[in-house]
Amino acid sequence: MESSTQNVAVLGLGPMGRALAAAFGPGVTVWNRTPGKADGLEATIAPSPSDAVAAADIVVTCLIDYPAVRRTLAAADLGGRTLINLTSGTPDQARELAAWAADRGVPYLDGAILTPTPMIGTPSGTILFSGDPAVHATVAPTLAVLGGRILHLGPDPARASAYDVALLDVFATATNGLLHGFALAAAEGIAPPDFAAFAAGIGALLPEMATRFGGRLADGRHPGDRSTIGSAASGIAHVTAAARARGLDTGMLDAARAVIDRAVAEGHGHEGLSRLAVMWGRTG
Ligand SMILES: NC(=O)c1ccc[n+]([C@@H]2O[C@H](COP(=O)([O-])OP(=O)(O)OC[C@H]3O[C@@H](n4cnc5c(N)ncnc54)[C@H](OP(=O)(O)O)[C@@H]3O)[C@@H](O)[C@H]2O)c1
Repeated sequence: MESSTQNVAVLGLGPMGRALAAAFGPGVTVWNRTPGKADGLEATIAPSPSDAVAAADIVVTCLIDYPAVRRTLAAADLGGRTLINLTSGTPDQARELAAWAADRGVPYLDGAILTPTPMIGTPSGTILFSGDPAVHATVAPTLAVLGGRILHLGPDPARASAYDVALLDVFATATNGLLHGFALAAAEGIAPPDFAAFAAGIGALLPEMATRFGGRLADGRHPGDRSTIGSAASGIAHVTAAARARGLDTGMLDAARAVIDRAVAEGHGHEGLSRLAVMWGRTG
């Protein structure tokens, strides 16, 4: 089916829902719980979720969480529509919503948006989808307007969410690591802009590390040729001591240190850092 024959409704006009609606263009129908969020959008505003669904072939939900999606769709008749959920959640929630849709005979795709709002509708806009490949093939021409990297990961509806949570894990921990570094630098009297110049260099190491660790984890080999876990144990011990001496919260460092120390205690001190993914993958 061509995109021009598929009408789209976007339910949820937070920053991301608005960006999606703008990318779909003026033919889009929108609904938001709180009125007034469609200001400035070229769109038809539906008075209720049911009215939005009735106007569409493809219903896109982009809300704060999965319970909000279920509540929003509770009274709507989705018969004949395809439901595409672009709300972030857990893989289990994606599976449950897919089962809910299947019970009602509603074709369903789950999606994970990997880029911020300004990139939606641009060549660098990246969205992962998963679920029935036949459903994806039907809606792919319409979804193409959302970005240059619209990827389908296969039939498991939870797959996109699985990538999403693992990537958000990287984002959350890396961001808080960066901010903790700013706090320690400030406690030592280093001005944030002075620190930022060097912190950016640490961030620039991550792409190569991601590729190298990915290869080593796939091979199941963790050579300590570049640096070792034993060295990391020493490093994190003095970072933690310095942070504690200045009265900083060391909870995040303590958690990382416990895993590194356990790796050393189990005889992996001579191995490379990629081994720590194995250690983080189990408790105790
Ligand atoms: N913003 C980004 O850069 C970005 C990037 C990637 C992924 N995402 C994902 O996109 C989704 C939407 O994010 P967002 O940035 O647009 O904002 P958000 O704050 O996550 O969600 C706001 C939307 O959820 C609605 N909402 C909240 N509680 C509701 C409820 N109980 N019932 C019905 N609607 C409810 C809000 O309606 P009201 O206006 O009435 O409060 C609004 O439309 C999230 O899952 C987010 O993780 C966002």
